[in-house]
Amino acid sequence: MWKSRLLGFNQMTIMDFVPGRNKPVYTPPGGPPQGLSPSREIYAMMGEANIFKLCEAFYRELEQSNIRALFPQDIVEASKKQALFLVGVLGGPPVYMETFGRPRMRARHLPFEIDEAARQTWLGCFRKVLEHPARYAFPEEHLPVFLHWLDDFSAWMVNTP
Ligand code: HEM
Repeated sequence: MWKSRLLGFNQMTIMDFVPGRNKPVYTPPGGPPQGLSPSREIYAMMGEANIFKLCEAFYRELEQSNIRALFPQDIVEASKKQALFLVGVLGGPPVYMETFGRPRMRARHLPFEIDEAARQTWLGCFRKVLEHPARYAFPEEHLPVFLHWLDDFSAWMVNTP
């Protein structure tokens, strides 16, 4: 913030508002996701425990990946936030919003440098656990839209060239 005071408001950059960020923010030209959202029947079909199990398996994949360093030490704890968010998306109660406020997912990801390669790793980990949908009672008929949504949504999380 000292820089913005010296240079004046006009020359402030978004980096002045994002603690821990060293690189300029990249905004994907495609903008926020416009496509289909996952079916809100999925929550009732899977049940909450399976959504948590799926997210834990996904974060265990991330733990083995080359983007592990982006995530907190306690990977299982981190997976629970993801699970609460997905519970809401998939038709369950809005506990994520009640606990953490409006999702503002792109803003929440800005402190982390996420480039296209990191996105591909992230998606690869999610796709890998979803190769076994039955383990989590994930309804197969809803997989294509869900995978498509992850693809779209993750493109909007990219913030680093
Ligand atoms: C593009 C690839 C992505 C990468 C590399 C990534 C990385 C991260 C990182 C590093 C965190 C912070 C971990 C923590 O402090 O707990 C995080 C949090 C989170 N991410 Fe992602 N993410 C990506 C895409 C997504 C997508 C597509 C979604 C939604 C479907 C998502 C949902 C979340 C949620 C719900 C949190 C917790 C936010 C909070 O309340 O603090 N992420 N992600």
